[in-house]
Amino acid sequence: MSVAKKDYKKVTTKSLIEMKANGEKISMLTAYDFTMAKIVDTAGVDVILVGDSASNVMAGHETTLPITLDQMIYHASSVIRAVDRALVVVDLPFGSYQSDPKEALRSSIRIMKESGGHAVKLEGGSEIKESIKRILAAGIPVMGHLGLTPQSIYKFGTYTVRAKEEAEAEKLVEDAQLLERLGCFAIVLEKIPAKLAQRVAQSISIPVIGIGAGGGVDGQVLVIHDMLGMNNEFSPRFLRRYLDLYEQMTGAIGKYVEDVKSADFPNEKEQY
Ligand code: KIV
Repeated sequence: MSVAKKDYKKVTTKSLIEMKANGEKISMLTAYDFTMAKIVDTAGVDVILVGDSASNVMAGHETTLPITLDQMIYHASSVIRAVDRALVVVDLPFGSYQSDPKEALRSSIRIMKESGGHAVKLEGGSEIKESIKRILAAGIPVMGHLGLTPQSIYKFGTYTVRAKEEAEAEKLVEDAQLLERLGCFAIVLEKIPAKLAQRVAQSISIPVIGIGAGGGVDGQVLVIHDMLGMNNEFSPRFLRRYLDLYEQMTGAIGKYVEDVKSADFPNEKEQY
């Protein structure tokens, strides 16, 4: 069932909570640079995530672990310069918040001050409770992230679906409720069974935004390079590809190479 969309001139953390209360689904996509962020914002996406997936899709690393706080700030400030409407959430990278709450706060302050981002996201539940409290106490909005948390990939060993077993599922529900009580404004749930995600979404009043977590949650997030089909080697079941940019771009670039080689480009109208 689709619900009438309210016209938000600027999306805030409050707007997202209102969207959930009104049954309006929340759209979220990643962006890491000015040009892409401008397109994503103009298309009407509610939340832009400057994800640490930049480590994979922008820098070519195998995991999200290597990206640094300075690099996240660089990506986030490029995105912020492009955005008029969306709420911009910035990932705290691995190693910038895990050791203690003071470090978590320092990293969050750097993101807010140096990039102009609107909120931070961090992975984990009860283990990072003190850090979340500290960041929130400084007036910085926090988005949680539970389920498959890619910064813990070496603990999990694989990128497979999380929380299929009861103990992990119960901990996830408790963590989501804890994040709400602490004051987080939203939670991302990644790659968990759809029924569990729906149970979480129904048990809390802050929005739950899913990736590989089914349709029973309050919104969806995808990595922009994946949904535009820029990477034809990544095809998880949860991904819907809206374009096949890999094919279209290699075709267009191949045609350019051909035109240069054959001296077809530039023609008379394309020169001074
Ligand atoms: O870094 C990222 O892109 C993310 C999404 C997968 C939610 O955290």
